[in-house]
Amino acid sequence: MPVVTIQPSGKTIEVSIGTTLLAAVMKAGEAIANKCQGKAECGACHIFVLEGRKSVSRTTPSENAKLDSIVGVGSKSRLACQVIVGEEDVTLELLNFASGR
Ligand code: FES
Repeated sequence: MPVVTIQPSGKTIEVSIGTTLLAAVMKAGEAIANKCQGKAECGACHIFVLEGRKSVSRTTPSENAKLDSIVGVGSKSRLACQVIVGEEDVTLELLNFASGR
């Protein structure tokens, strides 16, 4: 099973292929905002995917549209609720770990 590493804590969790990164982060007990319950509408689950980007699901048009409206977006930006884990391990960085509750 692929391993998701969550920065900045460095916590790791094994997840099944097909799990969203939002679900992985929550399963690991880390704080992440998800105000729209994973519908790509709030942008609160904005993260950086640092490693494993090639094996995760591609950015959808609705995710892209939301990302375009967020300040601080970069080439590694994704919405955690929209990223589906593939066969490879993934490392992500939480950006809102202080305000995610
Ligand atoms: S939880 Fe709202 S965009 Fe991901």
